Amino acid sequence: MMSKDLTQTPAWTRLSQARDRLAKTHLRELFAADPQRFENFSRQTNELLLDFSKQRLDDEVLDALVTLAEDTEVPSWRERLFAGEKINVSEERAVLHPALRHLEETPFPSAAHDVMPAVREVRAQMAVIVEKLRSGSWKGYSGETIRHVVNIGIGGSDLGPKMATRALSAFAHPGLHVHYVSNLDGAHLAPLLETLDPRSTLFIIASKTFTTQETMINAASAHNWMLAHTGTEASLAKHFVAVSAHPERAAEFGIPPAQVLPMWDWVGGRYSLWSAVGLPLAISIGMSGFERLLAGALDMDQHFCQAPLKDNLPVLLALLGIWNTNFLGAHTSAIVPYNESLRHLPGYLQQLEMESNGKTVNRDGQPLTCPANPIVWGEIGANGQHAFFQLLHQGGWLVPCDFIATALSDYPLPGHQAPLLANCFAQSAALAFGKTEDEARTELDTAKLSAMQRDALLPHKVFAGNQPSTTLLLPRLDPYHLGLLLALYEHKVFVQGVIWGINSFDQWGVELGKQLASRVLPVLNGEEDKEALDASTRGLIEWTQTTHG
Ligand code: F6P
Repeated sequence: MMSKDLTQTPAWTRLSQARDRLAKTHLRELFAADPQRFENFSRQTNELLLDFSKQRLDDEVLDALVTLAEDTEVPSWRERLFAGEKINVSEERAVLHPALRHLEETPFPSAAHDVMPAVREVRAQMAVIVEKLRSGSWKGYSGETIRHVVNIGIGGSDLGPKMATRALSAFAHPGLHVHYVSNLDGAHLAPLLETLDPRSTLFIIASKTFTTQETMINAASAHNWMLAHTGTEASLAKHFVAVSAHPERAAEFGIPPAQVLPMWDWVGGRYSLWSAVGLPLAISIGMSGFERLLAGALDMDQHFCQAPLKDNLPVLLALLGIWNTNFLGAHTSAIVPYNESLRHLPGYLQQLEMESNGKTVNRDGQPLTCPANPIVWGEIGANGQHAFFQLLHQGGWLVPCDFIATALSDYPLPGHQAPLLANCFAQSAALAFGKTEDEARTELDTAKLSAMQRDALLPHKVFAGNQPSTTLLLPRLDPYHLGLLLALYEHKVFVQGVIWGINSFDQWGVELGKQLASRVLPVLNGEEDKEALDASTRGLIEWTQTTHG
C-alpha cells in the first residue's frame, strides 16, 4: 500500500483553515463559549480519563482530525497490525507485540499463523523462574538465597522494565531487590557491584540481538566479577539468565539453555516489555501482577480496535499531537507525570516515540511532506515546576504537555496526595488561562507599592496562557492501569506513524553512531592510525591521549 501525501487530503486543508480561524482565539474564550467543554472534550475507557479540553481546538478541528485519520487509512493499518502483516517493511517483519498480551486461549494473529504456543511456552518458562526466585528456592553457588537481581540491558531491554519496576514499586517483593544497569560507563555497574554479595546475586542479560556493545561489555564485567568469587565457570550457571531473540549467542556466553528465554524478531525492542524482557518486573511484582499488566494492555488493544475513531483514546492522543506539531507548530512535547513512581516514564516514552517516529522519510523511502515526531522530554511534577515551568509559563514557546496523575497514591502518607493533585490541576489551568494584564494590575493594586513600582512589576506578572495540555487520570498506579496507559501510548505512536506515512518499527538512525564508534575505538586504543578520521575526532583523541594517557 503506497503512502498517501497527507498534506494533499481535504482534511489537511480543513485543518489549515481552522488553524487560521482559531489563530487569535484564546483557550479562555473557548472555555467561556462552552460551559460543557470538559464533557465535550474528554473521553474515558476502563477508568482511564483523557481530558483534552485544554487543547486549542473546537468541534470543527476535532471532526477534521478524525477525518484525517480516516483519509490516511488508520483503520485498515490497524487491521494489518493485528493481522500480523509485515508492516515493518524495511526489515520485512510483522509487528506482533499485541500477541504478548493476548490472554485468551485462542490463536493470534490467525489460526494459520499462530504465535501463541511459543508465547505461552515462554510465559510458562518465566513463571518457573519467577516462582523459584520469589519463593527463595533459587540458590546461588554457595547455597544462599538470591536477594538481588541485576538486569543488564539497554534501550528497549532496559527502559520498559526499569520504568515499570519503579512504577509498581508498591507491589514489589520485600526480600528481592531488582536493579538495572544499562550504561557503558563503568560508573553504572561498578558502584552497584560494591553493594552486592555475589552469593545472593543473579544477573539477567537482556538483549534482543545479544550483540549490543553496552550490554555485552557490562555482561562480561558481571561475568568476571562473579567468576572471581565462584572460582569455577560451572557454578556461574546459577547466577545468569538471558533474554534474547538469539538464544545461541546467549548459550555461547555460557548461559544454560533452560535459562535463556527467547523472544522473536516480531517484537521491537521498545515494544518488548510484555515479552520475557519483562522478567525482572515479573520477579519484582510476581507473575500474577505481570499478567494484570498484560490484561490492562489487552483492554487498551481491544478499545483501540473497537472504539469509533472520535472516541478512541490512542487515536485522539495521536491526533492532538498532529494538531500541535503540524498545525500549531510545536517542536517539542513534554510528559509531566505527577506521580513519583512514574519518574522513568518520560525516558521510556522518549524511546517509544522518538525511535519510532523520529524520521524524515516515509515507508516508501520518499521525503515526508511535513515534520513528524516532536522532541519528547519531561520530568515528574512537582519537581519540574521548580525547574523548567518558568519557561513554559513565560518563555514564549509553544510546549504542549501531557499531565499524568493518579487519584490515589500507592504510598498514602497523610497530607501529600491532595496537594500533589492540586498542583497538577493548577499547573495545567495556569498554562491554559494565564493571567491578563488587568488581573495582574488588580493584584498589584492590593500591594503596598508606589505607582512607579507597580508599573515596573506589571510586565513580569503577566502570563500569556494559551499553552495546550492534555491530562490523563488513572484511579491508581497498579499493574492493570499501568498496562492500559503504556498500550495507550504505543498505539498513539502507531497511529501517528500511519498518518505521517512512517514505518514506526525500524530504527536505522541509531546505526551510524555505532559504526563510527567501532572505527574510533581501535584508534583510541592506539591500534590504528588516526589519519582516516576527521579533524575534530582526531583532535579529541589526541587531547585525551596526551592529557590522560
Ligand atoms: O537503540 C537501538 C536499539 O537497537 C534499540 O532499538 C534497542 O531497544 C536497543 O538498541 C537494545 O538492543 P538489544 O536489545 O538488541 O540489545
